[in-house]
Amino acid sequence: PRAHIELDPHAVIAPVNRRTFGSFVEHLGRCVYDGIYEPGHETANEDGFRLDVVELVKELGSTTIRYPGGNFVSGFRWEDSVGPRDKRPVRRDLAWRSIETNQVGLDEFARWLKLTDSELMLAVNLGTRGILEALDLLEYANHPSGTALSDLRIANGTPEPHNVRMWCLGNEMDGTWQTGFMSADDYGKLAARTAQAMKTAQPDLELVVCGSSGSGMPHFGDWERTVLEHSYEFVDYVSCHAYYQEYDGDLGSFLASANDMDYFIETVVATADHVGYKKRSSKKINLSFDEWNVWYLHKTDADGDSPDPAAAASSEWRHAPRLLEDVYTVADAVVVGNLLMTLLKHSDRVTSASLAQLVNVIAPIMTEPGGPAWRQTTFYPFSITSRLASGQVIKPVIEAPTCETARHGQASVIDAVATVDDDHAAVFLVNRDLTEPAQLTIDVRGLGFAHVAEAVTLADADVYAQNTLADQERVVPRANASAVLADGVLTIELPPVSWTAISLS
Ligand code: AHR
Repeated sequence: PRAHIELDPHAVIAPVNRRTFGSFVEHLGRCVYDGIYEPGHETANEDGFRLDVVELVKELGSTTIRYPGGNFVSGFRWEDSVGPRDKRPVRRDLAWRSIETNQVGLDEFARWLKLTDSELMLAVNLGTRGILEALDLLEYANHPSGTALSDLRIANGTPEPHNVRMWCLGNEMDGTWQTGFMSADDYGKLAARTAQAMKTAQPDLELVVCGSSGSGMPHFGDWERTVLEHSYEFVDYVSCHAYYQEYDGDLGSFLASANDMDYFIETVVATADHVGYKKRSSKKINLSFDEWNVWYLHKTDADGDSPDPAAAASSEWRHAPRLLEDVYTVADAVVVGNLLMTLLKHSDRVTSASLAQLVNVIAPIMTEPGGPAWRQTTFYPFSITSRLASGQVIKPVIEAPTCETARHGQASVIDAVATVDDDHAAVFLVNRDLTEPAQLTIDVRGLGFAHVAEAVTLADADVYAQNTLADQERVVPRANASAVLADGVLTIELPPVSWTAISLS
């Protein structure tokens, strides 16, 4: 196929939010234990954190990190995980049917975040706990000193407050798999009262209320409306969660997953604005897309849309079992890159997002105990986009053929988004054609840059190629030598099923 793209620097959507490049660390499987934390590992620091993993997290370019769950948080007692490690209780985690040793908690995780230069986004448990425990955690985390819980933090070795700004009011409270799940009415009231109390303690908090756990939930839309009718005044964000996968060999539909994310975002924005209008409020609720990724959740059954942790967990209670360790392909990386482009395109309302998750569990980074850490295919579009996207997001005009997909309707064969700042511009592209390369012309005259500083493409003759322990660099991005910029027009060839980033200076 042939396609043409116009880039006009005046077609600004919004500034690039650094929080778009957030990630997620849950106490699940080997994300924390045998992932970021492995005391016996040769690269471990005095806290037991693997420094080889820290280096990869920095290279990934993730910003805000959501913690400690996820489904895990709905059974979590935060106070179990602070203080002397040898006194911390071992508990059952019902969400993942695992044994939680509490050897990593808020204070250690905050130290790990400093190593990776990331911001903490903390979730409170509204499944089995309520307002008081949320206030206690807030006091422990953020109050400077002179109160029981702030002094406890100091006695535990953390003199400075953690200053956590972003807080999730529970997790996926609509899902029957969630410990303590509730109706929209019940959750909306609890979230409103918790948010009101937390903001009374600290008005500058940014609070995220739970949206539906997926757009496939039967109550999607109604849930957001009801919850926001209760909580609109007190919260700042509503959460969105979406996972995509290829079903039954239908790669064409899978590559068009971003269409669904678009629809999802637009529906939640419309619903939030509808509630705001009814309340005659001038305030806008933004979206925290705080779980998104490719996840092979439905390995055999294409019908269900809700996560079923019980299916992933075995009947045995184990510590750090291998759960949700999807190994990603080139096609998965193209979809992840495209989903990130979609989040950027909605930067006016999606002002926070978290790739779920960070290490070992549906993750861009994998580790072996006592062994190496390596990059999955999905690592690359995320890290390169995080590195190159800056300034303002530009809405491109795309003239390209479309194709019909079974799951997501008509999809443009080419998708694109661009960002521009004073010194450079970046263009992100996907070719969704299954077999043919695409010839592109991109009019960049308006941007005022004359050089291709970098052009990289992720593609492979085998779209199912993966990086594994045995072959850690089977898939890497490669320079795209076809990129030429002359007289303000950039020409480039994109291989079939590919993701590309171009930097202009
Ligand atoms: O990211 C894995 C799980 O997916 C999270 O724990 C939960 O919130 C979602 O269902």
